[in-house]
Amino acid sequence: MSKAVVIAVDGPGGAGKGELTQRLARDLGFALLDSGAIYRVLGYAARKAGLALFDEDSLVQEAQVLNLRFETTERGVRVMLGDEDVTSAIRTEEAGVNASKVAQFPAVRQALLQRQRAFRKEPGLVADGRDMGTVVFPDAPVKIFLDARAEVRAQRRVKQLEAAGKKADYATVLSEIKDRDERDRNRKVAPLVPAKDAVVLDSSDLGIEEVYAKARALVREKTSL
Ligand code: DC
Repeated sequence: MSKAVVIAVDGPGGAGKGELTQRLARDLGFALLDSGAIYRVLGYAARKAGLALFDEDSLVQEAQVLNLRFETTERGVRVMLGDEDVTSAIRTEEAGVNASKVAQFPAVRQALLQRQRAFRKEPGLVADGRDMGTVVFPDAPVKIFLDARAEVRAQRRVKQLEAAGKKADYATVLSEIKDRDERDRNRKVAPLVPAKDAVVLDSSDLGIEEVYAKARALVREKTSL
């Protein structure tokens, strides 16, 4: 197995992991693993195949043959399921909920483990998810748990949706965030918890620049990079 440096960034949806990990990867010239996108694509593929999202055996089979690729383009990363570009389709609220549902099953998570570990390559990897520091890369030298209050995450999400020209109701978004947190934090395997050796950063009252500066300083401290 590769021993390349891994920077594991875990935390709930909306805490700012996406922006932070993209920036760290760019800055360090590292690869990026968006593990949530893998669960989102699995949920999408399962729906498309007409599977029930609680049918663990069928979900495992789907996970094993999932023809998923991340393609880097000038306009960012494109997520492909076979020949279909699913980049936008997997970003809906529904796709997030479906991802969280399929992610509850131990055998589904196991089926996706090697696929995630294969992203670890020189010169290094920034890994974004819920269990990067606890399960997928337990030996990562840098582990960050990026948290934020649910109310703040809901406000950010409403702003994002409005900026994308979509209608957004704060109360609905907040309740969806709380439901998803509850499912992710309380599942039996790989629940959303900080690794024992993770540094917890709370982004509720910090801007992206401050979060980035703290994370970057931590990387320097742990790896001298
Ligand atoms: O980070 P995200 O919102 O794209 O993730 C979508 C869902 O996928 C999340 O609610 C739980 C699941 N997930 C997971 O169980 N483990 C990961 N490492 C990443 C995501």
